[in-house]
Amino acid sequence: MTFDSGEDRYAGFPAGFFDRVDQSPDREFYLEPRLVAHIDERAIAAVGELYRDLKIGGKVLDLMGSWISHFLDPPQDLTVLGMNTTELKSNIQMSSWVQQDLNEDQQLPFGDDCFDSVVCCVSVDYLVRPLEVFDEVHRCLKSGGVFVNTFSNRCFPTKAIQGWGQMDDQGHVAVVGEYFRRSGGWADLHAELRTDSSSPGDPLYAVWGYKK
Ligand SMILES: C[S@@+](CC[C@H](N)C(=O)[O-])C[C@H]1O[C@@H](n2cnc3c(N)ncnc32)[C@H](O)[C@@H]1O
Repeated sequence: MTFDSGEDRYAGFPAGFFDRVDQSPDREFYLEPRLVAHIDERAIAAVGELYRDLKIGGKVLDLMGSWISHFLDPPQDLTVLGMNTTELKSNIQMSSWVQQDLNEDQQLPFGDDCFDSVVCCVSVDYLVRPLEVFDEVHRCLKSGGVFVNTFSNRCFPTKAIQGWGQMDDQGHVAVVGEYFRRSGGWADLHAELRTDSSSPGDPLYAVWGYKK
């Protein structure tokens, strides 16, 4: 897929790309807690190893989080933002939690330059206004701080944006990279497959960048 530039910052994404099959409010879908793993053990381990490799620590925000944040070395101060309070309160690595629907309100309830790192695991595909969310993550990160998105090849299909469902893994990597580019102010973008493609299991892709 190619993307063109335009005055509208979402120009070039195909019509309906950010629509969803289930258009009901997200709070209804996430009303019941899901205390489950959304990726297999190998992919979860790959998330933790990536966080360790990137030396993620200090004051960290887990965006679109649930009851597990996957850190091998839990950060000193971990804020988890998600939809379901039972899930959030069950997160043993969490220091504080925030319930917020990022599809209704993209403004993060945090000050400027306050997080060392922000992570978002297997969830970027649910954002209908990703550029505004990436802008807000950029605002809240300290200069040089990293924003890490990880994802696999499965999702809640009715809640993921339709564009995601229409693309393959390489397309997903390209789309998340495009979010970083269009949001702006990011440097040193990386994209990697963090699991072994020659053995079975959920793949784990990561796309990350640093606040300039
Ligand atoms: C597939 S789960 C992943 C949870 C967790 N990040 C993990 O690694 O297991 C998707 C998560 O995205 C969050 N989420 C979905 N839609 C959201 C929205 N509109 N605003 C904020 N969080 C949302 C939900 O709370 C849910 O926990």
